[in-house]
Amino acid sequence: MEALKPYLETNKERFLEELLELLRIPSISADSKYNGDVRKAAEFVAEKLKAAGADKVEVCETAGHPIVYGEKILDPSKPTVLVYGHYDVQPPDPLDLWHSPPFEPVIKKTEEHPEGAIYARGACDDKGQMYMHIKAFEMMMQHNRLDCNVKFMLEGEEEVGSNNLGTFVTQNKERLQADVVLISDTSMIGNDTPSLETGLRGLAYMEVEVQGPNRDLHSGVYGGAVANPATILAQMIASMHDENNHITIPGFYDDVLNVTDEERAEMAKATFDLNHYKKDLGVTEVWGEKGYSSLERTSIRPTLEVNGIWSGYIGEGAKTVLPAKANARISMRLVPNQNSVKIADLFKAHFESIAPPYVKVKVSSHHGGEPVVTPTDSIPFKAAVKAIEATYGKSPIPTRGGGSIPIVALFEKELGLKSILMGFGLDSDNLHSPNEKYGLFNYYKGIETIPYFYQYLAELSNGSAH
Ligand code: BES
Ligand code: MN
Ligand code: MN
Repeated sequence: MEALKPYLETNKERFLEELLELLRIPSISADSKYNGDVRKAAEFVAEKLKAAGADKVEVCETAGHPIVYGEKILDPSKPTVLVYGHYDVQPPDPLDLWHSPPFEPVIKKTEEHPEGAIYARGACDDKGQMYMHIKAFEMMMQHNRLDCNVKFMLEGEEEVGSNNLGTFVTQNKERLQADVVLISDTSMIGNDTPSLETGLRGLAYMEVEVQGPNRDLHSGVYGGAVANPATILAQMIASMHDENNHITIPGFYDDVLNVTDEERAEMAKATFDLNHYKKDLGVTEVWGEKGYSSLERTSIRPTLEVNGIWSGYIGEGAKTVLPAKANARISMRLVPNQNSVKIADLFKAHFESIAPPYVKVKVSSHHGGEPVVTPTDSIPFKAAVKAIEATYGKSPIPTRGGGSIPIVALFEKELGLKSILMGFGLDSDNLHSPNEKYGLFNYYKGIETIPYFYQYLAELSNGSAH
């Protein structure tokens, strides 16, 4: 794949310009005001896929945002790679914390990204990472070096739970037949410490409402005599972690597959600079479940987080009020073998059981997803390791990721396919945060590495039934 390098060098500028164009489209899947832009992004991606040489390119309609499909089938005896990515992005809020507008990408150099980083919503998650696959495909097509069959399935609803992709996968099992799924939507430890994720956490996302009196009340006239639902909600939430920061929901840990001491010792070898971590985040101390390291807390252990909490008056100035209601969105990250439906049920039963008689509570479930682990002894995993070795000159450290891509478990269940999580982002790239960025180093390194994956997958599969 050394032969592709000059093409990458010659086309660097254009590869970047095209990504910037895609980043200018505000394809925010959560907000229906942007439905037209989400479609525009889908059409852009479809057009580029076609231009790169894909056949049967289609913008597939769903009950929600469209799915872009395209393929290149060269030889049925070769392995087939199903590339998955998403062209939708998270809402950019809070807008005032961005140093430049989220949909007007700019390139700036930083200590972490001395070669420059693209600042824009979706730069890393996942437009930048997804687009690397289209450019890598273009390079392989141009040089007649596509060593595997490839199918692209790029969706516009990942950030809102991939509900319609589930239906699409179930209805298109034949069309999506492949040997492995390849995804770049995760992170590496650092640009000089390549890593490969071997798992993702699952997710159970809940919403709760605590209702006190039947209307907002004057806090002087009634305060102190009627329970304030905001206080009650705060107490209920606080009680869900004990003094060791274990989650107190009965049965919550029952199905957790404990990681062996050997595996933990292996994980502990990954470089982790706690001081840098704290400094980067502006915290004086880290927090978490007793008995586990920060890395373990964000990978092999389940967690419970408040994602949003609201009640009372939060407009300009001050208003004395005893609110009638308090609400929160609470998510739990899950690890093998927890099940999102079971955990959602346990949460609901527990939350209802701890509600004091002064309030009424309602609990509902948003989206969920199951945790996954990927085998590290498979041919595709070995191909990914070799690909990274070829371009980074170092072996990737296997790590378990903290984030979730709920559809990955479904690929396994519906298509019988394992996924390779070959992400090139960094955890510090501000995903879902203001000032999201993606290093130019990472973008080009990804484009350079992907063709090696195809090459080694073909080579290592040769002779073995793939
Ligand atoms: N790409 C992320 C997931 C991710 C990020 C995995 C970093 C590993 C490392 C994905 O787009 C995402 O944000 N997923 C959501 C879940 C989804 C249902 C909204 C998440 O993890 O919160
Ligand atoms: Mn993503
Ligand atoms: Mn995301």
